[in-house]
Amino acid sequence: MPELRRRTLLSAIGVTAAAGSVATSQATVAHAADGGREAPYESEVRSLLSRMTLEEKLGQLQQLPWAYDLNPGSGSTKEVEDAARSGRLGSVLSIFGARTTNALQKLAVEESRLGIPLLFGLDVIHGFWTNFPIPLAQAAAFDPDVARSDAEVSAKEARSNGVHWTFAPMMDVTHEPRWGRIAEGNGEDPCLTSRLAAAKVEGYQGSGYRTKDRLAACAKHFVAYGGAEGGRDYNTVDVSESRLRNLYLPPFKAALDAGVATVMASFNTISGVPAHGNAHTLTGILKKEWGFEGMVVSDWTGVQELIAHGFAEDGADAARLALNAGVDMEMTSTNLLTNGRKLLRSGKITEKRIDDAVARVLGLKYALGLFDDPYVDESAAITEPSANARKAARAAAARSMVLLKNDAGVLPLSRSVGSLAVVGPFADSADLLGTWVVPASAEKFPAVKILDAVKRAAPDAKVTYARGVDPEGADTGGIDEAVAAAKAADVTVVVVGEPTAMSGEASARSDISLPGAQEKLVTAIAATGKPFVVVLVNGRPLTIGDWLERAPAVLEAWHPGTEAGNAVADVLFGAVNPGGKLPVSFPRTVGQIPIHYNHESTGRPYDANNKYTSKYLDLPPTPQFPFGFGLSYTTFDLGTPKLSRANVPAGALRKGDTVEVSVSVRNTGDHTGDEVVQLYVRDVAASITQPVRRLRGFKRVTLDAGRSATVRFPLGAEDLGFWTNDPNGEFRLEEGTFKLYVGTSSTADAELTLTVT
Ligand code: NOJ
Repeated sequence: MPELRRRTLLSAIGVTAAAGSVATSQATVAHAADGGREAPYESEVRSLLSRMTLEEKLGQLQQLPWAYDLNPGSGSTKEVEDAARSGRLGSVLSIFGARTTNALQKLAVEESRLGIPLLFGLDVIHGFWTNFPIPLAQAAAFDPDVARSDAEVSAKEARSNGVHWTFAPMMDVTHEPRWGRIAEGNGEDPCLTSRLAAAKVEGYQGSGYRTKDRLAACAKHFVAYGGAEGGRDYNTVDVSESRLRNLYLPPFKAALDAGVATVMASFNTISGVPAHGNAHTLTGILKKEWGFEGMVVSDWTGVQELIAHGFAEDGADAARLALNAGVDMEMTSTNLLTNGRKLLRSGKITEKRIDDAVARVLGLKYALGLFDDPYVDESAAITEPSANARKAARAAAARSMVLLKNDAGVLPLSRSVGSLAVVGPFADSADLLGTWVVPASAEKFPAVKILDAVKRAAPDAKVTYARGVDPEGADTGGIDEAVAAAKAADVTVVVVGEPTAMSGEASARSDISLPGAQEKLVTAIAATGKPFVVVLVNGRPLTIGDWLERAPAVLEAWHPGTEAGNAVADVLFGAVNPGGKLPVSFPRTVGQIPIHYNHESTGRPYDANNKYTSKYLDLPPTPQFPFGFGLSYTTFDLGTPKLSRANVPAGALRKGDTVEVSVSVRNTGDHTGDEVVQLYVRDVAASITQPVRRLRGFKRVTLDAGRSATVRFPLGAEDLGFWTNDPNGEFRLEEGTFKLYVGTSSTADAELTLTVT
């Protein structure tokens, strides 16, 4: 009989993050002490298990998709209903709606032999009715409260509509802008992603997802999915143990520490072993080393895909490999359900492991309160974004925007401007919600268009609109009209970017510049010689071509969600001073990929005066825009950073001692504004070469003109040490010199030296 103690306790107690802390990865999350008490649901789970047949147990390990628009042809409601009635189903995904879920739940609760309730899961990734900016944008806010606000609003809306469990947060660190799923994660840095992962879990789960305004969360995709070779989705990942542990695993550990209820396996291989059959990662690290007692769900047909990977002979073999590796619930494919009895009889799987998996599923259902009340109050279902939800989404979107360029103070625009041209394929478009949207929400609550919001923000201005070009395609026939509009206006807003369908799952691009003829539109507007602003709406870093030189101002707005237009207008007209920073490097060309700030050094680091160093002959060594970069309508000055101690014994750090880096930051301009103060660390010489910089702390501060504040970063052993290649998990803090860099982007040049003795 498995123990459910830790997970169920965490969910029952909830967790709190240290408020307003600038701490980095060190323990800012506190759990109430376990104290050796019995898990709240252990006896219930044990007693239910003892009454279950093998078929019923295997049924609990099966998840089927509900047939709604997202999954045309992927199953029928009849098949799901029959499985629910016969007690051969544990969970249904891609389902929502208070009436729909209640009706299906009734079949399981009232007609199946044991009446075990179903668990309803849905991809609520950056919104349910109210869509927040995409997670990559949320990361640009460098403010975990942005992610938390999305999770709280989403949980409330989704749970009231019968959803128990969201397949979020996605926490795949990646160095691949071609990968479409970069939109769903938080970019290239494990420290930033960890902080956001914890905030999202806390936002979804609250102090316990038994409450009917919370959801059980799912940390995905476990693990290293972001390492897909060439950025092609689902592709191979070959990764050393140390990179696995230093780059890809930390956000998952942070999610676990925040009490995440479930984990989803990833589609990729990890050094030759598919994640769905990877006993080292799923059982060795996740369940044993980290003590995760929640449930591991496969990804969509991920178990079945072990055959295509060339890892399993057939469906039975795939089921055996996945269950034994640590997958507890099979999504969509039915290999375990079909072959479980046969596998058990032949001794290829054990009853003990089946019981363990079933107990994890049942434990979650108890923790959600489904055995007490499996239904949802249909009269209380939230049917639209509330005013408060919209307000939160608007604030989140504006807070996520990054000002990339602002020559001659073109921005902010004046509300009393005489005339404005608004041009481009995304100006009068609602295709701004982002990659993961519940289809019904896109139809019912389309994004606020930028053109409409600009008109409202400058009611006295003469506003003209011209589409110019389509989002895709070579037609340039509309450019003349856009140019005429720009010539006749005081200032032009050019809205260009990617359709949302170009990022997200299965949406890799080999060319990540503006699609179609959009660059031609920008260049034509530039040729008018009149002032203009480019607003980018996109789901990944773009390669910004030659037009960057010619555009006086560029605002990165990402895919901003339901309140898109309003949030863009807030920033354009200065109601919000942009303070976001890039959570990912923007390459100059596709050929420069991978390019990321946290790369390792080489024996021949770049040297402009030495040909035989690491570089391209035809490109500068830097990205177009570095990680952590972003401007403001005001200016900031950082004081000289200070270190509380220049020498510290490694032993003291290992015992929990910290050193403190402090720096003052002053708003030297004349607008209230936000700056993100960032701390990076470099271990100068280590037994495994370390990244040239690693983000270890960040803090977004808001300062009125002329005001200053002091930001403090504690640094402990967790921030300075690293994971070695030991598969059993060895974290090492080595003695020697550490360089610390403090500033406002990953190119920060204020340097301190710390010696660990
Ligand atoms: C496949 C995706 O990889 C995963 O992120 C998602 O949660 C599942 N489909 C369910 O829709």
